[in-house]
Amino acid sequence: MAQIPVLGLKHRKKQRAVLATVQIPKKSFVWSTLVLVCFVGFTFSSVWLLLPGFHSWQPAAATVTTVVKPNIVVTETVEFPDETVVFLKYPPSTPLFTKDDLYCHYVTPNLSQYPESVENDELSGQQLVRCPLIKPRGVLTSLSVENTGDTFSVGPTRRWNSLAYEAMIDRDNTTIVFVKGFNLRGGKQSDPSKFKCVFGWDVKNPKFVLQSDVVSVAQEVVRCNTPMSILNNPQRVIGSNMNQPIKVSVRMVGKQPLESTASPQRRLQPNLPGQKQHEMCVCTMLRNQASFLKEWIMYHTRIGVQRWFIYDNNSLDDIDDIIKVLSMDGNINVTRHVWPWVKTQEAGFAHCALRARDVCEWVGFMDVDEFFHLPTGMSLLDILRNQSNYPSSKVAELRVSCHNFGPSGLKHVPAQGVTMGYNCRMIAPERHKSIVKPEALNSTLINVVHHFHLKSEFRYANMDRNVIVINHYKYQVWDVFKEKFYRRVATYVSDWQQERNVGSRDRAPGLGTRAVEPPDWSSRFCEVIDTGLKDRVAEMFTDPNTGKLPWQNH
Ligand SMILES: *[C@@H]1O[C@H](CO)[C@@H](O)[C@H](O)[C@H]1NC(C)=O
Ligand SMILES: *[C@@H]1O[C@H](CO)[C@@H](O)[C@H](O)[C@H]1NC(C)=O
Ligand SMILES: *[C@@H]1O[C@H](CO)[C@@H](O)[C@H](O)[C@H]1NC(C)=O
Ligand SMILES: *[C@@H]1O[C@H](CO)[C@@H](O)[C@H](O)[C@H]1NC(C)=O
Ligand SMILES: *[C@@H]1O[C@H](CO)[C@@H](O)[C@H](O)[C@H]1NC(C)=O
Ligand SMILES: *[C@@H]1O[C@H](CO)[C@@H](O)[C@H](O)[C@H]1NC(C)=O
Repeated sequence: MAQIPVLGLKHRKKQRAVLATVQIPKKSFVWSTLVLVCFVGFTFSSVWLLLPGFHSWQPAAATVTTVVKPNIVVTETVEFPDETVVFLKYPPSTPLFTKDDLYCHYVTPNLSQYPESVENDELSGQQLVRCPLIKPRGVLTSLSVENTGDTFSVGPTRRWNSLAYEAMIDRDNTTIVFVKGFNLRGGKQSDPSKFKCVFGWDVKNPKFVLQSDVVSVAQEVVRCNTPMSILNNPQRVIGSNMNQPIKVSVRMVGKQPLESTASPQRRLQPNLPGQKQHEMCVCTMLRNQASFLKEWIMYHTRIGVQRWFIYDNNSLDDIDDIIKVLSMDGNINVTRHVWPWVKTQEAGFAHCALRARDVCEWVGFMDVDEFFHLPTGMSLLDILRNQSNYPSSKVAELRVSCHNFGPSGLKHVPAQGVTMGYNCRMIAPERHKSIVKPEALNSTLINVVHHFHLKSEFRYANMDRNVIVINHYKYQVWDVFKEKFYRRVATYVSDWQQERNVGSRDRAPGLGTRAVEPPDWSSRFCEVIDTGLKDRVAEMFTDPNTGKLPWQNH
């Protein structure tokens, strides 16, 4: 007789499960193991994931989810450098908590604090409660609801610096995992044979995981083979109301896997023949830029952008209200995904590119201070459709150069908006931004400073600046510009605040490393007057009765 430990499986109704030792006749165990290995094609060290109906049972050792009142659960708790984020999941009709309903409780010291913010994420349906970090040794233990006094434990806390944090299943059935902690080089592929993927409810427990090979790894994106039993369990959760999904993580060969909050639940759509739902979409990542959003989205919607994917990095402003107004009153298709993962702009763009690939022919990756300007009066769609007329050219990336605008003599934020306010720029164009076909992206999803690698059969085209250019309102009035010092986002670009890399193009020339207003700021970066976009916007949007722009406060 061979003794193999498996998770004791007791039915959910009994509420508890135990770890048990099950006796299986040696011969049949070896035989069934071999059959399963051959059939599934994956190595594994436990059979429980493959048991029929396993998803309606709950293993004890792997339990991490804490039940809060009837159907509210703490799904994850992650500690970041400045705060601890508790992820809550609710059934759809439950009224959501707000910042004023909740307390964060700590021990050593024993105290309670209000959360810094409570945000609702449209994509995952989760709520993120941000509890402040209590230094030096405060430990977040629970949340409580102000008016009912209900208290619930936050469960195990994951450290952000070593974490598998998001995952989805691609159309070729590989699982794409976003990871933090390997510190791989930017812009390059790493050796996949040095890594393994693990799937299970407790990825740290080697007895109860399925293991698979890594197909590719680059930057923070790992592509894994997906075990068959995971593909075949559509929800990849245990029980329907426990929301306890299977997780995936990655380990270096010979090392422990990263902690994981990543569940491969989202499945990407196959590439169906025919036109995609949208011709032109935009992915952007922002923080506290709600005041610029209306103008940026309304203008670009008018010239052809049909779908907006906003990745919000911890905004504390009224972005939710602005998005509501744009989508309800403006009938604009814009959604916000809370992206709490700090310094992961490249991974965020890769994540967005994959979502956009399901529904968008073309995607622009750009910032909220960048505006396409088409001096000839064409729309963006004219340009994209022109490309479709030459399919044999295999152009899948349009490179558009940027004109950098300066403060244009202004001292205060222009009431009519940035396109109307700033009209003086540098002569020489800088860099470029791209509009890409997400279907043409290289499967490694490598991207550096907004630029993706394409599959080898595709190529890019440099666009004529007289046809399309980007007005980049890079150096706005001082009050706006100084915020950029605190908002450097890309993982592979050095911080503005650090002394190294002083000659980088990402710095404002002559500013050094301190955010102190130079006396001549408002007249800097001004070499040529350019009112091209200003005139266009005035013509398209000025209300003939009031003389105002639609994004202006009334
Ligand atoms: C923590 O403080 C609260 C009141 O501030 C008190 O009621 C509670 O008993 C304390 N808990 C511990 C473990 O000291
Ligand atoms: C992916 O897995 C599903 C089973 O979940 C299977 O039906 C499908 O054929 C697989 N697709 C590919 C491309 O292997
Ligand atoms: C917005 O776009 C998504 C696809 O990205 C689509 O599923 C949804 O129906 C659209 N919403 C509206 C209101 O058009
Ligand atoms: C989000 O903002 C913080 C500043 O609080 C910054 O450190 C971080 O890099 C940003 N992350 C992303 C992905 O933009
Ligand atoms: C249309 O596409 C062709 C082929 O790529 C290119 O030569 C031409 O400049 C494009 N015209 C415009 C207006 O973009
Ligand atoms: C994707 O990029 C990698 C590394 O640059 C390259 O080896 C591979 O051939 C590319 N894949 C395709 C399909 O072009």
